[in-house]
Amino acid sequence: MKTNNFRGRDWIDAELDYTKEEWETLIDLSLRLKQEFSMGVDHSNILKGKTLFSMFFNQSLRTRSTFAAGIQQLGGNYIELEPGKTYTPARKGYEVPYKTERICDVASMLDRVGDAIAIRMYGKPAHWIYGFANATLKEFAHYANNPILNMECDIHHPCQSLADMITIKEKFGGFKGVNVTMSWAYSGSFEKPRAVPQSFIMAAAKMGCNVTIAHPEGFEMDPRIIEESRKMAAMNGTEIKMTNNFDEGFEGAHVVYPKSWGTGACFNYVDDAGTVVKEADHDLARSLFEANKDWKTTQKQMDLTARGGIYMHCLPADRDQEVTDDVIDGPQSVVMDEAENRLHGQKAVMALLMGGRL
Ligand code: CP
Repeated sequence: MKTNNFRGRDWIDAELDYTKEEWETLIDLSLRLKQEFSMGVDHSNILKGKTLFSMFFNQSLRTRSTFAAGIQQLGGNYIELEPGKTYTPARKGYEVPYKTERICDVASMLDRVGDAIAIRMYGKPAHWIYGFANATLKEFAHYANNPILNMECDIHHPCQSLADMITIKEKFGGFKGVNVTMSWAYSGSFEKPRAVPQSFIMAAAKMGCNVTIAHPEGFEMDPRIIEESRKMAAMNGTEIKMTNNFDEGFEGAHVVYPKSWGTGACFNYVDDAGTVVKEADHDLARSLFEANKDWKTTQKQMDLTARGGIYMHCLPADRDQEVTDDVIDGPQSVVMDEAENRLHGQKAVMALLMGGRL
């Protein structure tokens, strides 16, 4: 296991920035830490004395609890900086006197006193401008020497995709020949990011799964992400399949991941100068969601999956909208394994990037 080339790196566009071999190292280390944790092995020397700062611009249960528990299990300190209670970090042009603080100053200051900064930002705090949150994290990375960890932005959620890959490896022993489907599902909330499906398809394609994407018309993902996923698939001799038919996504799949994500109409789009070139169309977004209420996973769809097929979801799930209780609580569901694997995956990321003693 080659671990010496991780130290000090950022974890932002991780599906693009880390090689397949590096993902394998992270997955293997996560599984080792998981096994040792279950046996009561003390990990508190790994990041002893190191400090992780977190900033959540959006709500979170899993990401918050697993980062907090994870760094403490590794012997480090967890300090949550709540935007709004601290001076909210802001990019140039988005500042409010004595309420915000320019990112260059926040990043440089935290660099002096801690060892990594983890950030979640998408949606309203990012003005619903597609890519704004990702650019914000990269601005932090520009000014910080310590690693910046993406806890979900508007393009990527690599902590989730790592936990998803750990889960697939646990269930199937590897990735080659595993048919995975990322499918859209209906939810009563139409203002949603699309980081989870985008990160999942890239990670699954990178690791060598056969990837299918299923969604109604109007829910296409970022074309750049699709292009990158296709390139990763080609490197493994696989390809990305697409369908607009809900049931077709389930047929023969070993892994189904039906979850809601936002339509492109949820977002504002800006050019390189920051000028809005296309505004969000909320009426269109709402009508696209309401026209596809039948994209709900029931046992009827699960019966179409391959023998041993599993149901995945990043959580939180909108029960009775995205999925019925009997499926998410049923024998094919692995959602709590995924949630638990957030802990072990992030411990591996922190241990390697923050210079842990392994
Ligand atoms: N899956 C996930 O990121 O969960 P939280 O929003 O609860 O952090």
